[in-house]
Amino acid sequence: MNLKILILPGDGIGTEVTRAAVDVLHAVAKKFGHTLELTEGLLGGIAIHKTGTPFPDDTRTKAQGVDAILMGAVGLPEFDSAPPSQRPEKGLLELRSLLDVYANLRPVRTYPELIESSPLKNHVISGTDMIIVRELTGGLYYSQPRGIDENRGFNTMAYTRGEVERVTHTAFKLARNRRKKVTSVDKSNVLEVSQFWRKVVIEVAAQYPDIQLEHVLVDNAAMQMVLRPTQFDVMLTENTFGDILSDIGGILAGSIGMLPSASLGAANAEGVIKGLYEPVHGSAPDIAGQNKANPFGAIGSVAAMLEYTFGLIKEANAVNDAVGKVLASGRVTADLKPKGTPATTDQVGKAVSEAL
Ligand code: IPM
Ligand code: MN
Repeated sequence: MNLKILILPGDGIGTEVTRAAVDVLHAVAKKFGHTLELTEGLLGGIAIHKTGTPFPDDTRTKAQGVDAILMGAVGLPEFDSAPPSQRPEKGLLELRSLLDVYANLRPVRTYPELIESSPLKNHVISGTDMIIVRELTGGLYYSQPRGIDENRGFNTMAYTRGEVERVTHTAFKLARNRRKKVTSVDKSNVLEVSQFWRKVVIEVAAQYPDIQLEHVLVDNAAMQMVLRPTQFDVMLTENTFGDILSDIGGILAGSIGMLPSASLGAANAEGVIKGLYEPVHGSAPDIAGQNKANPFGAIGSVAAMLEYTFGLIKEANAVNDAVGKVLASGRVTADLKPKGTPATTDQVGKAVSEAL
């Protein structure tokens, strides 16, 4: 099979973890006899520096011509005081919107090998296996009106019925192949948008009588995630809530560097689900350029790409198994607090490729 993929390394550690992930992509393609058609593009701070905009037309065109995109991370400290419309992050937000990848899947699990890497107690996190389904193209991130006046800054959190319905279907379909439980997270004790969200989720749930549905308020959900994370299977939530809660997921997994993500839209006429694949972590300017970032989130995102966009389940499993082997070997990056000398980003990438 020919895999047409756009690589967007982005900023900071994004370039480093992407290099390791592309290494693994080459290894898995070779092993299973697939061809890679890779193109590269600019996104984020590097794109602002080179072209004046975080989402150049060239990247837009390339993004529309591929089936899958592997993204590193965006964000640079020199843009910290720039308005949202001129920041590196804006490039990513426009890309998500252009691709209409409304469902962001963020699996969170604890690996036995990493149980000591989390600051939380072993008995609390042990056995955690949940997936956050974050709505990605609506809500507070995108709704109008938004702006900054002299004496007021404002954003809007709005959802249409269609927006809630489609991501709810994604969550329930996922639950079918898991432990058959969906937890919808909202703030319906305060927000009308959340009351509407809850109402639509309940309506959609009627089509999935085999799946258990519960509702949890977002503040309580944050607490429950560190108190008893094993209670969750599929967690469905709004864009901003999902952004915040998924960082807690990093603590459960041992490091935010472990977390992969898949951002998916609807299947096209050929039945292909175009996807944007990105680790959950950011550009981490504090450790950028030091070859010490954890590439497992990016490598896991490659596995997700093989599975969801290309339907290559065997290949995806092989990548995840290889990651498991490297984890078990203890040759991991500093964030995972290995016993011996920490491995570099490149070394972990190579180790995964070799384990394949
Ligand atoms: C994430 C990131 C992004 C987000 C930023 C970089 C725009 O934090 O993917 O979690 O807020 O969605
Ligand atoms: Mn985030």
